[in-house]
Amino acid sequence: MHAPIKPIVLVPLAATLVAGLAGTASAAAPSDWSAVPSQTLKLHFPGQSSYQWLRSKEHKRAVKKTVQGDSCVSCHEDEEAELGQTMVSGDRLEPHPIEGKQPVIELVVQAAHDSDNLYLRFQWKTRNSFAGTAHPHWRFDGKDWKQIGWPMLHKKVWKEGQPAIYEDRLSMMIDDGSVPMFAEQGCWLTCHDGARDMQDVAGADQVKAHPLLGKTLKKKDVRKYLPASRTDEAVSWDATKTAEEIAAIKAAGGFVDLMHWRGHRSNPVGMADDGYVLEYRLFDDGKKMFSKNWDKAKNQPKYMFDAKKVGFKSKTMDKLRDPAAPPALIVEENAAPFDPNAGWKEGDMIPEYYVTRTGASGSAADNSDATGTWADGMWTVLWTRKLDTGHPQDDKIMKVGGTYTFGFAVHDDNITTRGHHVSWPMSVGIGTEAEITAVTVK
Ligand code: HEC
Repeated sequence: MHAPIKPIVLVPLAATLVAGLAGTASAAAPSDWSAVPSQTLKLHFPGQSSYQWLRSKEHKRAVKKTVQGDSCVSCHEDEEAELGQTMVSGDRLEPHPIEGKQPVIELVVQAAHDSDNLYLRFQWKTRNSFAGTAHPHWRFDGKDWKQIGWPMLHKKVWKEGQPAIYEDRLSMMIDDGSVPMFAEQGCWLTCHDGARDMQDVAGADQVKAHPLLGKTLKKKDVRKYLPASRTDEAVSWDATKTAEEIAAIKAAGGFVDLMHWRGHRSNPVGMADDGYVLEYRLFDDGKKMFSKNWDKAKNQPKYMFDAKKVGFKSKTMDKLRDPAAPPALIVEENAAPFDPNAGWKEGDMIPEYYVTRTGASGSAADNSDATGTWADGMWTVLWTRKLDTGHPQDDKIMKVGGTYTFGFAVHDDNITTRGHHVSWPMSVGIGTEAEITAVTVK
């Protein structure tokens, strides 16, 4: 968690800030963020603008340049609002437009660093007048516990009228120049036809039968992947290289780092998750902070709320977003082993995931200091990332003086997959000038 606040005075210079009190032992984020320069990025709604679509004749007059690796901004500079509007309206690339969806979300970014850490501060306005800290639950129907709540693009919501319940998120991809074209085309390299909620979604049976994705990785759907992990020119989801070839690319650093701060599944324990993208979107080695709250053998939840600590053992739909109640089941704070004989009534609800800080470990637990607070319609997230996590096998290791490419995304208003808002790739300089300059604090 955050070190105690120290009286640091920040004096802005061109590319660096030289800050007060040198010689203090522990690293700390800037105590006065108002002295750190800020930048407002326009994140636009991308719809189904996949790697394959961008290289199809539908992407008018742009195919050749896109294939050659030209940057998106070389043609689309300052067009975020226009692009976003085209897609939220359903004119192109969005089969299920969401009424009132924002074409663009403005993400305010501030960055600072010392010798150990990169400190980031983010702010963005949410569409809803409440914090997106709820996530799907198990609901007791009088007999069984069944899932309730889905992301808004799920057909249970737009077709069957089921409730949209999904956490808000802020995510980052990072590359250090090892992934070809990431600096130019960023997140759009990872997003492909065949993936969840994209065009020509791969069926669960197809994925389960796939030698690498199904048989080895035990996956049932297609998520993000990088072109280098595929063998054909179309970069098809099923044309994977061998596990050995992919391991060699990974060992050479040819993956992008990907991490999510999550309103329900990480923020309640002051963390963000940690993963990477190569042949799939995978979590880092070790244990992440959230797990499915389900005991397969007993066919029931693992945990319920501890009534002795929070005054209730479950929630109901009308209490799901009560800001006075804890938003998540936290093992070390408010959870008790599930009791099947606790007198459950129809409509009782228990979170589908539980969260634990002490249970997270290894490289998957690197983002141990990421906290968001929501007030007056706005999230403010403070995120500390070690420059060198000590886990080069699945993290990008950063150095003072280095420049890296970041992609940012916000998931707002009960959404997942393509329903997020995405930034163009941005250069981030650690104490050196870039599109986003992390200023030096000592
Ligand atoms: C060589 C210039 C060029 C490059 C590079 C380029 N585009 Fe385009 N893009 C265009 C043109 C031209 C259109 C068509 C606009 C129209 O039809 O009005 C377009 C259309 C689009 C559309 C559809 C929305 C619309 O208004 O039709 C999306 C989405 C899009 N581009 C995203 C991207 C992304 C993401 C990248 C980077 C991976 C990229 N483009 C790279 C020129 C380019």
